[in-house]
Amino acid sequence: MQISVIGCGYLGAVHAVCMAQLGHSVVGIDVDAAKVAGLAAGEVPFFEPGLSDLLAASLQSGRLRFSTAIDEVRGADVHFIAVGTPQADDSLAADLGYVDAAVTALLPHLASGSLVVGKSTVPVGTAARLADLIEAAGARLAWNPEFLREGFAIADTLRPDRIVYGVRPGDGQSVTTLDAVYAAAIDRETPRIVTDFATAELVKVAANAFLATKISFINAMADIADATGADVTQLAEAIGYDERIGRRFLNAGLGFGGGCLPKDIRGFLARADELGAGESLGFLREVDALNSRRRERMVGLAQELCGGSVAGARIAVLGLAFKPDSDDVRDSPALDVAVRLRELGAEVRATDPQAVSSSRRIHPQLDYVASAEDAVAGADLVLLLTEWQQYRELDPAAIGSLVTTRMLVDGRNCLDPASWRSAGWVYRAPGRP
Ligand code: UDX
Repeated sequence: MQISVIGCGYLGAVHAVCMAQLGHSVVGIDVDAAKVAGLAAGEVPFFEPGLSDLLAASLQSGRLRFSTAIDEVRGADVHFIAVGTPQADDSLAADLGYVDAAVTALLPHLASGSLVVGKSTVPVGTAARLADLIEAAGARLAWNPEFLREGFAIADTLRPDRIVYGVRPGDGQSVTTLDAVYAAAIDRETPRIVTDFATAELVKVAANAFLATKISFINAMADIADATGADVTQLAEAIGYDERIGRRFLNAGLGFGGGCLPKDIRGFLARADELGAGESLGFLREVDALNSRRRERMVGLAQELCGGSVAGARIAVLGLAFKPDSDDVRDSPALDVAVRLRELGAEVRATDPQAVSSSRRIHPQLDYVASAEDAVAGADLVLLLTEWQQYRELDPAAIGSLVTTRMLVDGRNCLDPASWRSAGWVYRAPGRP
């Protein structure tokens, strides 16, 4: 099929590459000329395992190109909208400026009978509004939310665990077209839910709200564990064996960040308020507040371990990305803690396997170093804030020989306390005795 993808950020770039990989002819459109030039030259503007190779292969195949010219979408059967919906500057709501601009730009180029497919995460009600505009131009609209996780973006796109189509009631034609786009997944009998616009829009924010709630739940349990001497990691293991609960997303620690979970729960709250249903989502305010307190508590713990104040203390920060296998520092708990400690007068030396450049762009004031060894040299306190595999594998004795004081906070509960303690470390972690 002929496909256009409007917006070549994380979601759009991955989607364009994966659609070409599935055998479609794809043009990726973005207003950012530098991004387009980079992608066309085979450069991925962010760190996503495997994407570079797949981009190169897709470009090589001749089925993938990139452009800043919106009229290049002409001739496509399907147009995916994959632009960002960040949190607005002045409220909790999602900013729909990019979605509206993309649709406005697309309208004059829509062929009669073509299909526009929304993938961006939008407030419920957006698709119905856009459908009126798109149908007036003789085309159709479907909403097809994306559930990709950074670090697993290719697998999540090529082998999704479910596919959701939101369409107008009775619009079998859009379903047939989307089935052709996703023929490989449909052939594998991937669960497919065909529903209305509102449900499709809600599925995405409901899924992220659930995941955020699960993380804040276990972090609340970590606080209770701290107050009682219990161990939240064993608690998570024990409740996780209950299939109704499940062990995944029960890792207590510094909490969630990134470009999706925080802004999606806030956007969901804002939209529910507009709809007069805010009361039903009141718990999400607490989920968000609990998550923010994780960062304050980490700073508080660092202060406690430094004798009441971090001023002048040399603190090593291992990890800056919002999660491992990513260079994304949007709303990153780790970077936030590093910045706060520096503001309190600590001499912070921070490192991350991938996220130093992205951190430096927004916080040039921090002292960044290339390796964990450089970060910990002479440190009074070591904070592990993003659970990269290489940090999980650090040798307590070797690292211990570099620091001034063997004092560590495992902010992600990813290390074995016994081996660190037996190497003479003071080991602390949220929710662990
Ligand atoms: C999320 C959703 O998982 C994905 O389905 C959606 O499409 C986009 O948003 P992503 O932002 O890539 O994906 O990150 P995710 O893996 O969900 O992690 C989010 C945050 O939660 C990270 O900061 C992570 O460190 C934190 N987290 C996750 C925990 O603190 N504890 C956990 O148990 C799991």
